[in-house]
Amino acid sequence: MSIEKLIEHQSTLTATRLTDLFEADPSRAGRYSSQAAGLYFDWSKTGLDDQAVDLLLSFADDAGMAARRDQMFQGDKINVTEDRAVLHTVLRAGSEVEVRVDGEDVIPGVHDTLARMRDFATRLRSGQIRAPGGGRYRDVVNIGIGGSDLGPAMATRALSPYHDGLRVHFVSNVDGAQIADVLRGLNPAETLIMVASKTFTTIETMTNAATARDWLLRDVHADVVGLHFAALSSNLEKTAEWGIAAERVFGFEDWVGGRYSMWGPIGLSLMIAIGPDRFDQMLAGARAMDQHFQTSEGRANMPLMLALVGFWHRQVCGYPTRAVLPYEQRLARLPAYLQQLEMESNGKRVALDGTALDLPSGPVVWGEPGTNGQHAFYQLIHQGTDIIPCEFMVGAEGHEPDLAHQHLLLVANCLAQSQALMTGRSLSEARTLMQEKGFEGDELERQAAHRVFPGNRPSTTLVYPKLTPEVLGAIVALYEHRVFVEGVLLGLNSFDQWGVELGKELAVALSPVLQGDEAAEGLDGSTRALIDVLDKFGST
Ligand code: F6P
Repeated sequence: MSIEKLIEHQSTLTATRLTDLFEADPSRAGRYSSQAAGLYFDWSKTGLDDQAVDLLLSFADDAGMAARRDQMFQGDKINVTEDRAVLHTVLRAGSEVEVRVDGEDVIPGVHDTLARMRDFATRLRSGQIRAPGGGRYRDVVNIGIGGSDLGPAMATRALSPYHDGLRVHFVSNVDGAQIADVLRGLNPAETLIMVASKTFTTIETMTNAATARDWLLRDVHADVVGLHFAALSSNLEKTAEWGIAAERVFGFEDWVGGRYSMWGPIGLSLMIAIGPDRFDQMLAGARAMDQHFQTSEGRANMPLMLALVGFWHRQVCGYPTRAVLPYEQRLARLPAYLQQLEMESNGKRVALDGTALDLPSGPVVWGEPGTNGQHAFYQLIHQGTDIIPCEFMVGAEGHEPDLAHQHLLLVANCLAQSQALMTGRSLSEARTLMQEKGFEGDELERQAAHRVFPGNRPSTTLVYPKLTPEVLGAIVALYEHRVFVEGVLLGLNSFDQWGVELGKELAVALSPVLQGDEAAEGLDGSTRALIDVLDKFGST
């Protein structure tokens, strides 16, 4: 199946409105939706018809989606530029499965680490693990960035109704303002610093870890400062060099990508906040989605359909961005999490074999929780000249029974937005509205034009019962697999991230220039000029 065929079919659909599709098929809402792992995914408000779905499914078949999926789950080294397996799914697999990497079953090691995490979190939460001064640890600061921050930070916020452990804080930015603000309210004697870094070399994280150590040393004796640290990393050599005791180090293998790592040691801060049992429930939700992804066929397969809808919008229709709009304030960090997951995975310009991609890469992903976004950027989504597919998410229930009326209003807004995007408001409806307000003649026409909503704008809605740990696990796994499928459709490697390297190298080279230790001569004119301005501003 060629992309041209899909584009050709799409061109035959441009005159069809979403509302026409529903009129033509009263069963559309049910037929263009799927259910899995406690989630309901409605993709009926997209321009897809049955033929488009069939063509997309053939495209996925021809791209070898099922075989690639099985290769991933069984531990083949599908990350070809780094010669690594891709096995974040193993972090949430049951002990009955066996997955071999280089001939070795990796499941027992994962379960041993999980048991160590459980034990550590339980003893920390109960106060059995004491700070060197004899008191309880009350605060945990997770220092990490990218995948070593976004996953646990997003999930810790998402599951705040389940927090019954230590207070957990997150520091990621090399901007000292963040660590200064976080540490300001804490007592060093009661604080555990968790350095989360797969490589244990990331400059932001190591700089913040050093700052945290200096902060601890103001109150804590140098001999015991190491007891205020734990490490979450796959670089055990570096954690040892840093003086973190082996029993405080939770390791993982190189087959867990940073942005896919919240299910294992990188999730330890979350486990400390919500407890090991609830953490297990989150893993169970993800596992249910894994099983569904591996066993469901065609349009019943939720991650596959989420990916095909995304592919249709980006690669077939050519829409450059997609908005993720959770109607759930506690999912405020989900758009940022998905930004890394999707854009670091599928923001690539070459195919697996190194030749130029013949399709546009993955889309820009962005968003904010509803209803806040409604009062900010929805204007452009409804009336701007670009079409932005929207991915709504909403729970049937909130966690605040005494505020159920607010939850109803939240749900009403979510449904109203996708309805408005689909139906729009015609010029004649806008005219009637303005006539009723007393306008006439040219002024009526002028005023009415501003109140037209073109409608026919696509959206999907993900519905879940309530944002429990299990539901969160299923949602995140759903998106992980969506990103995987989109990468297969594009024929690229979703599991490396070479695009982040150049900026890192240049920042290292620029630091001595900014410190005045090296001359700016060899630099390009623009960078030199900016350094001059910064110098001038800095010395005033
Ligand atoms: O710079 C990108 C990146 O490598 C991400 O992929 C990763 O999640 C992040 O940096 C942090 O890396 P680490 O966990 O090794 O500190």
